[in-house]
Amino acid sequence: MSESRESIGLPDVAAMKRAGTKIVMVTTYDHPSARLASEAGIDLILVGDSAGNNMLGYDSTVPVTMDEAAMLTSAVARARPRSLIVGDMPFGTFQASDRDAVAGAVRLVKAGADAVKLEGAGPMVSRVRAIVDAGIPVMGHVGLTPQSATKLGGMKAQGQTAAAARHVLHDARELEAAGAFAIVLESVPARVATHISKILTIPTIGIGAGPGCDGQVLVWHDLLGINEGAAPRFVKRYAELAAETRRGLAEFAAEVRSGTYPASEHEYKIAGDELRAFEADLERTRRES
Ligand code: KIV
Repeated sequence: MSESRESIGLPDVAAMKRAGTKIVMVTTYDHPSARLASEAGIDLILVGDSAGNNMLGYDSTVPVTMDEAAMLTSAVARARPRSLIVGDMPFGTFQASDRDAVAGAVRLVKAGADAVKLEGAGPMVSRVRAIVDAGIPVMGHVGLTPQSATKLGGMKAQGQTAAAARHVLHDARELEAAGAFAIVLESVPARVATHISKILTIPTIGIGAGPGCDGQVLVWHDLLGINEGAAPRFVKRYAELAAETRRGLAEFAAEVRSGTYPASEHEYKIAGDELRAFEADLERTRRES
């Protein structure tokens, strides 16, 4: 765990809930983005398994491996952000046993995570308890859990009936009791998330769960407009980086093709007498050959 920087710690996160200060989390998967997130005052960085779709070209989060998650986490950690780093446990690395879960969490902490996140409740509550007992802080994740989207009938909002809302609350309470320090509520009706946020003593971080959560998280590529296609209704774009990137690349290509770039200010220079000596060498070689 990164301790030498003046970083956000778990007591800060708990204090933000007590003080009613909103907690801001973004996903980040690489070194420069982690530096920018930290400089922008983001409280928590999630090295999400959404790297699968957003960085690695997979169709979902399911194929992401622990090697990939650890590599991305270590790149983020090397930026030494002030933000608390939460490493997301990939599908298949914690479901089978508490022992696997602890081993996976240890791997992410060794890669530089301050805490880990895992999806689900039910049998996963015991995984959370085991990891917390091993001394590693855990963030829970309920509501829509993309790793089990097939079981949930797709990437759909959860908790939209009284019974389903009770189920989300039950899961969240179990995770809190197991020692989770915060819980992501994904794609849950705003009114339900507000109730859950008031009932829990630990912070809720919403994504598609309305303003009553104690904090909000968005995926980097969604909020910065790197993803331009269809997006869930909760996504708001705060920048248009895809358009700006295309513009910059097209300008570079045009300038290379027209000879405008590189210009004189981009060149390294050689002193006139050194150049004349070099050119005399070339001329001598040409005459001798
Ligand atoms: O991996 C991820 O991006 C997440 C967020 C949706 C919370 O788990």
